[in-house]
Parts: sequence; C-alpha cells; structure tokens
Amino acid sequence: MSSNHHQSVMFKESIKELKLKHDGIYIDATFGRGGHALGILDKLGEQGRLIAFDQDISAIEYANQHMNDTRLTLVHSAFANMHQILSEQGLLGKIDGILMDLGVSSPQLDNAQRGFSFNADGPLDMRMNQTRGMSAAQWLTQADEVEIADVIYAFGEERKSRYIARAIKKFQIDTPLETTLQLANIVSSVVRPQKKKHPATRTFQAIRIFINQELKQLSETLEQTLDLLAPEARLCVISFHSIEDRIVKQFVRKYSQQKQLPKGLPIMDSGIQQTLLQDLGKSFANPEEISVNRRSRSAILRIAQRTTKTHEKC
Ligand SMILES: C[S@@+](CC[C@H](N)C(=O)[O-])C[C@H]1O[C@@H](n2cnc3c(N)ncnc32)[C@H](O)[C@@H]1O
Repeated sequence: MSSNHHQSVMFKESIKELKLKHDGIYIDATFGRGGHALGILDKLGEQGRLIAFDQDISAIEYANQHMNDTRLTLVHSAFANMHQILSEQGLLGKIDGILMDLGVSSPQLDNAQRGFSFNADGPLDMRMNQTRGMSAAQWLTQADEVEIADVIYAFGEERKSRYIARAIKKFQIDTPLETTLQLANIVSSVVRPQKKKHPATRTFQAIRIFINQELKQLSETLEQTLDLLAPEARLCVISFHSIEDRIVKQFVRKYSQQKQLPKGLPIMDSGIQQTLLQDLGKSFANPEEISVNRRSRSAILRIAQRTTKTHEKC
C-alpha cells in the first residue's frame, strides 16, 4: 500500500526557530510531502522565496501536483548540490534560513516497492533517488562479507553485524537476495528480538544510509551552508539517530568555538579567530507529539545562527 501522507516532525519548533522574515529567501533541503515547506510559505510575504530540494522524484511530482505557489522553486537534486545550484543563481550569502529534516518520509517507508521497510515485502531497493546508483540488493550481491559487516556496524551500530553479514552471504549461496522480507528474515535468524524494536531495524537503517550516502551528503552540505547563509540567518537540522546528530553537533561546535591563533599571524590583528556560527542549542519533540507520531520520538532539532562578520578584540 502506498500513501502520500507524511506528518512533519517538530513542525512548530522548527518554523519558529527559523525566525522567518517576511521577504526572506529560504531553503527547505528536504521537501518530502511539503509539510514544513507549507509552514514556511505561510509566513512569507509576496516577495519571499522558498527553494525546496528533494532527490526523490515522487516528492517533486507530488509538489508539482499539489503546490501552486510562485514563491516556491522546486529542485530535483541531492541537497549536496545546493552550493553549486545557488551560486549559479547569485545567491551565496543571501539565504535567510535553511531547514534540513533528514532521513526518509512516510510515503517512502509505506510504499513496499521502495524497499525501505522490513514490515512489507518488496524489492530490496532503498534508493531515495531511483534514477541513479546501486540498489541495496545489487550492493549486497557484489559486496563481500567484511564490507557488509562494516557497513552494518558503522551505520547501524549493530553489534551482531558480523553474524548478519555471514548469514547474508550463506543465504546467497543458494538463493538470490532480492526482497525486503528475505533480508528481514535473515537478520531475525541471528538477532534476538528486542522489546519494541524489530531485529532488522538497525540493519535496514545502516544499509539505507550507505546506499544513499546519507552521512557524506550531510557533512558536505553542512559545510556549504556557511557560504550560503546571510549574517544572522538560521540553520535548523532535524536528525533521527545519534550518528547523524553527532555530525551536526560537531559541525556547529567546530564553527562556533573561538580559537586562539598563534601571535603575529597577519590575517587577524586580534589573535582570536572569528566564529562563523553561534550555537543556539537543541530541542526534542514534546510528549504530546511523540504520543501521536512515533517517528518524532528520536528527533533532535539543532539550531545555529550565522554570525555577523565582526572581529572579536582581545
Ligand atoms: C523526513 S522527509 C522530509 C519531510 C518534510 N519536511 C515534510 O514536512 O513533508 C525527508 C525527505 O528528504 C529527502 N532527502 C533525504 N536526503 C536527501 C538528500 N541528500 N538530498 C535531497 N533530498 C533528500 C527524502 O527523499 C525525503 O523526501
């Protein structure tokens, strides 16, 4: 079954933290089904603009069918291309806020044909952008046991990664591994069920992250935002697991902590390097939201603000 509904996570908090300006230019890096995008457009005036990215063509098709707003520009692309695309439009340093709501949407998860879900049988695909790259099934066929184990451990923090990889390779001796339920059953044969978590949760997460190069995309894009954001513009990132959140946290920390430079460097007379970001902290979904939207239970919203270009004096 496929549905087009996606309940936006931490909607009110993220829209509030963007500190939207009537005539500002904003980026929604992850359009999905446009919940956050509508919230942003709602607060923009006639001269405001929203540039929305999604690498999944079904999100863009949905937007083309349901959104009729001249202030909205849709871009079918990975968000890691935003620097290039926006610099071509002369928008470096002119963006008033960027929202990133990471991971997959409910329509992607709910459509068995996309291969993200261990609950419904479908082709083992897992690509957000189905027009390029390798499907999960193709990768699991060509990768060796060690490679598979490493991915499941690194991106899923799954302690049984080596047993799972071995079981996958053993299964493939007799049968091609092509469907989500085949993979879910293989994992279930070696991982004990936990209270409310399906045994294959971590493995599916890890393979999805790897197939879509999610962490690389995130790290590269965060760096690009520094060139894109105008002074005092906000960056809001909603992440859904600790590996993602760690990347966002470390990025904000790296650019928000002042460093003492060696004395006598000609580039600064103050001896203190200016910071590019101000760390405005993090927040979580409230219990009411968690009670109606389970997906929000693991959400972390981090907020940072681009600093103005002033030098700090000693
Ligand atoms: C959690 S959903 C966003 C939901 C959206 N905020 C809403 O309210 O409807 C994430 C979306 O981002 C897209 N996405 C994830 N990683 C991406 C990337 N690297 N580049 C572009 N789009 C990406 C996915 O295809 C998915 O549609």
